[in-house]
Amino acid sequence: MKKLKGKTVAEQRWVLRQLKDPYVKASHVQNFRCRSAFKLLEIDDKFRLLQPGHSVVDCGAAPGAWSQVAVQRVNSVGTDPELRRGTVVGIDLLNIPPLEGAHFLSSHDVTHPATHAKLLDLLPNGQAHVILSDMAPNASGFREMDHEKLITMCFSLIDLAEMILQPGGSLVCKYWDGGLTHKLQEKLSNVFGSVRTFKPHASRKDSAEKYLLARMYRKPVK
Ligand SMILES: C[S@@+](CC[C@H](N)C(=O)[O-])C[C@H]1O[C@@H](n2cnc3c(N)ncnc32)[C@H](O)[C@@H]1O
Repeated sequence: MKKLKGKTVAEQRWVLRQLKDPYVKASHVQNFRCRSAFKLLEIDDKFRLLQPGHSVVDCGAAPGAWSQVAVQRVNSVGTDPELRRGTVVGIDLLNIPPLEGAHFLSSHDVTHPATHAKLLDLLPNGQAHVILSDMAPNASGFREMDHEKLITMCFSLIDLAEMILQPGGSLVCKYWDGGLTHKLQEKLSNVFGSVRTFKPHASRKDSAEKYLLARMYRKPVK
């Protein structure tokens, strides 16, 4: 096969997996930037978090597939003039190619105060209805270390929520399962009325990846 020529064994394995993957095929057909779009579609079909008119922050947005889904669901292009028009802001350390209906903060770190200041400017009234995070650090291959890194990133989303999430709002975040998962669930339960775990079918079975869905945000009283 032409696509396998000159590739290492690991690269060949990756190419073969991509070729067999129905979500990769479907993402090409439906013009999504990557297969992860189907994870958010599945989450949103089940939990109905993204409504027309909503303001959404997409953390770790590159290359932009979740933002594509969010743009459709919150009607941020105004495709349906009968419905309210929402806002989508995506943030990533990497470049995110432009997308109609979304504002992107490329080369921005979600945890950085300068990013928070820009977010407050871009969101209507500085408030979001939903924070999405598919963020992940570069995996080192050491499972527990990678898990801890990602959990620390998820903790930072709780601080972000305190700045921008409106009461009653929702947070979806990816985590890699491990020893600190219960700590994250506990922290989320302190400020959200409902917290649950979800593994979409589109998430590969051999991956430790799961999503936490936290709803009904209660802003902590200081
Ligand atoms: C799995 S990809 C996200 C895919 C995206 N949801 C989509 O559908 O196109 C994870 C992204 O998280 C980003 N990321 C990791 N740490 C970050 C940070 N501190 N701030 C912003 N983005 C970060 C990475 O650069 C990477 O692009």
